[in-house]
Amino acid sequence: MKKASMISIGAYVPEFILTNHDLEKMVETSDEWIVKRTGIHTRHIAKDEVTSDLGYKAAKQAIERAKLAPSDIDAIICATISPDYLCMPSTACRISNLLGLTNVTAFDISAACTGFIYLLEIAKSLVESGMKKNVLIIGAEKLSSITNWEDRGTCVLFGDGAGAAVISLREDNHIIDVHTSSDGSKGELLITPGCGSVNPMSQDTLDKKLHFMHMAGNEVFKVAVNTLTNDVIDILAKNGILSSQIDLFIPHQANLRIINAVQQKLGLSDEQCVLTVAKYGNTSSASIPMAINDAFESGRLKNGSLMLLDAFGGGFTWGSALLKFGGK
Ligand code: ACO
Repeated sequence: MKKASMISIGAYVPEFILTNHDLEKMVETSDEWIVKRTGIHTRHIAKDEVTSDLGYKAAKQAIERAKLAPSDIDAIICATISPDYLCMPSTACRISNLLGLTNVTAFDISAACTGFIYLLEIAKSLVESGMKKNVLIIGAEKLSSITNWEDRGTCVLFGDGAGAAVISLREDNHIIDVHTSSDGSKGELLITPGCGSVNPMSQDTLDKKLHFMHMAGNEVFKVAVNTLTNDVIDILAKNGILSSQIDLFIPHQANLRIINAVQQKLGLSDEQCVLTVAKYGNTSSASIPMAINDAFESGRLKNGSLMLLDAFGGGFTWGSALLKFGGK
């Protein structure tokens, strides 16, 4: 029976690399603190490119690897918290224009770092219902444009990049299950407070830097570890899959300590875990597809590999997915 499958993956990172030593010159921090608390060594920063440029380059690669033409894509969905424009046009529409498409469903979603898991759920529903044939999903972020470069509590964490995948019906190597969830009561712990309807843009919101990301890191950390561990245990149990059967565990790359905590609770080996946080930092909705692409390009991810994905982010939102890779 045909079901939804991830038939390709692509990614793009901007060229410029910002090191921890560069950050030592910008805020009161140290390479030692950043590495010990987060596992991050470097992050890539987009200079002249905007979010849709990053998303377009990842999307183009994913479409080519799927052996499709852009015109075969009948829906483009982009997850981003750093869109080209605050309200409109959507970043997905901007990417569709770069791909040369003028008659395609295109929209953005906002689920912060869990964006790619939400995209998988939406794309699976669209293709399995028969409403769409080839859905292009993209996580694209220029987080450097919403980062307060004077706040050492956040600026050391984030980077820019994009990842994309094509979801289509296939006989085998399906998306087995996707779980998404949220708890809006904790929204203020990770928030961009300014420039929306609560605090419309004014000189005051700009002076108070309310348009940048604000995070109560330590409180987010504790909720993230517990929520992710329970979520991943649930999805494995629901599908009768043991952690030892997972070929690759590809978590959202926010913090090495969060990943290690979940890895240990599940008894996953280092060989099963894909880690890109050291070189890319936290790229929010782009981090999982960028990590899937890394595993693909290094030869670790093969056709039929069983992947376990998990993510936690602003909202709060979280989710996990179990899938066999359908790309070649
Ligand atoms: N350099 C040096 N010292 C620092 C830095 C820095 N860059 N940042 C904070 N500190 C200091 C703090 O001021 C504090 O000092 P104090 O003890 O004198 O008060 C001390 O280091 C410890 O600060 P904590 O915030 O408690 O440090 P923690 O170990 O929690 O690490 C971090 C902070 C890395 C942010 C961690 O809490 C974290 O990763 N949180 C979760 C992030 C996450 O998963 N977010 C969700 C996804 S993101 C999204 O959705 C967009």
